[in-house]
Amino acid sequence: MGSLSFGSSQSAIGLDIGTEHVRVAQVKPSGAGFTLTAYGHVDVPMGAVADGEIIDAAAVSSAIKELWRRSNVRGKEVSTGVSNQRVIVRLIDLPFMERGELQSAIQYQAQDYIPMAVEDSILDFQIIGDYMTSNDEHMMEVLLVAAHREMIGNTVTAIEGAGLKLGQIDVSSFAIVRALMGEGPGVLPDDEGQATAIIHISAGITNIAVVERGIPRFNRISSLAGSTFSQAIANALNVSFEEAEQLKIVVGLPDVETGEGEQTPGVSPEQTQMVHQSLEREVNKFIAEVRRSLDYYLTQTSQVRNIQRILLTGSGAQLRNLSAYLSKGLQAQVLIGDPLERMQVASSAQAAVNADRMGSVTAIGLALGGLQK
Ligand SMILES: Nc1ncnc2c1ncn2[C@@H]1O[C@H](COP(=O)(O)OP(=O)(O)OP(=O)(O)O)[C@@H](O)[C@H]1O
Ligand SMILES: [Mg+2]
Repeated sequence: MGSLSFGSSQSAIGLDIGTEHVRVAQVKPSGAGFTLTAYGHVDVPMGAVADGEIIDAAAVSSAIKELWRRSNVRGKEVSTGVSNQRVIVRLIDLPFMERGELQSAIQYQAQDYIPMAVEDSILDFQIIGDYMTSNDEHMMEVLLVAAHREMIGNTVTAIEGAGLKLGQIDVSSFAIVRALMGEGPGVLPDDEGQATAIIHISAGITNIAVVERGIPRFNRISSLAGSTFSQAIANALNVSFEEAEQLKIVVGLPDVETGEGEQTPGVSPEQTQMVHQSLEREVNKFIAEVRRSLDYYLTQTSQVRNIQRILLTGSGAQLRNLSAYLSKGLQAQVLIGDPLERMQVASSAQAAVNADRMGSVTAIGLALGGLQK
C-alpha cells in the first residue's frame, strides 16, 4: 500500500455505560494529538444499571441503540469500561520473571490478592517495572486486574444486544486517568515525593485514583456520589428524588468561608438553608471517605509523602462550591479536570460534547484506549 492516508487514519469508539446515562465518544489521531469526531449521551431507564453493574441488559441495549441513532458516531466496534465492586485492581510485587512465564504464574498467584474466586474471574495484568531489593532479589511490580466473569458477561450481552461488537474492556478509572493526563511518565510531572489524585464523581459511583508519574498506582470506588447528595436533600426536605436533584443543581453548597449562598428564584430562604445543611453534611462524609483512601494509599508507598493536587471531574463535580470544600477539607490544590483540554474537537462533535463536558471524561478515555490497540 502507498503511504498516502489523507488523514483518514483509523478511529476508535468509547462507550461508557452508567446509572443515569450511556455515552459515546469517537476519536481519531490528528497531528501530534487527537480529535473528537463524534459524541453523544442519552438517558438510561432507572434501575437498568446499579452500583456500576448492568441489571437489565435489554434496557441498556435499547439505550445504546438510541445513542447510535442520536449521535453521529460511525462504526460498530467499541471499547467499554467497568467500575464496580466486582473489578479489582491491585499493584503487587512478585519475583522477577519473563512475561510469558508470568502469564501462567498469575493464575496461581492471583488468589492471594483478590477477594473473588480466580475460577470466576477474568485476569489481566500489566508489568509496571522491576527492581532489586536490599537482599539482591530481583523483583517486579505488576498491576493485576481481576473482573468477575458473569459481570463482564452482562456487559457483553448489552453491547451485542445493541448490534455492536466489543473490542476491549478497560477499567473505567484507567480511562479517566488517560483522558485527563495522557499515558506514561512525563505527562503533568509531579514534584519529588508528590502525586496527583483524581476524583471522578458520577451518579452512583465515585472513582478515586492516585497517579504517580503517569501511572495509576491506586484506585478505589465509593458509593458516595451524586445520587447520595440528592437523596440527602430528598430526605431532609421531604421532596421527590427528582425535585431534590433540581434543588441540588440550582442551590448547591454555600460559600465555604462565609457560609452564604446566592438566593435562587423560586427557592425559599428556608429551603436554601436546608439544602445547604444537608449537602454540607454529605460532603463532609465524602471528604472523610476520600481522606481515608488517600491516607491508606500514602501508608502503602514509600516514594510519595503528599498528594500535591487533585483533579476533580465527572458530572457530579459540577456541584456549586464543591472544589473549595474539597480543597479546604483535604488541604490540597483542587483543579477541575477538563477532558477537552488535551484534544481537538471537530465541529461535528462540538455542540454534543459542550452539553456534557464534565460527563464526557470516561467515554473519551475509553476511546483513546481503543486507539492504542
Ligand atoms: N450542575 C450540577 N451540579 C451538581 N450535580 C450535578 C450537576 N449536573 C449533574 N450533576 C449530577 O451528576 C450525576 C450524574 O452523573 P453521570 O451522568 O455522570 O452519572 P452516570 O455516569 O450515569 O452514573 P455512574 O457512572 O455513577 O453509574 C447526578 O447525580 C447529577 O445530579
Ligand atoms: Mg459514569
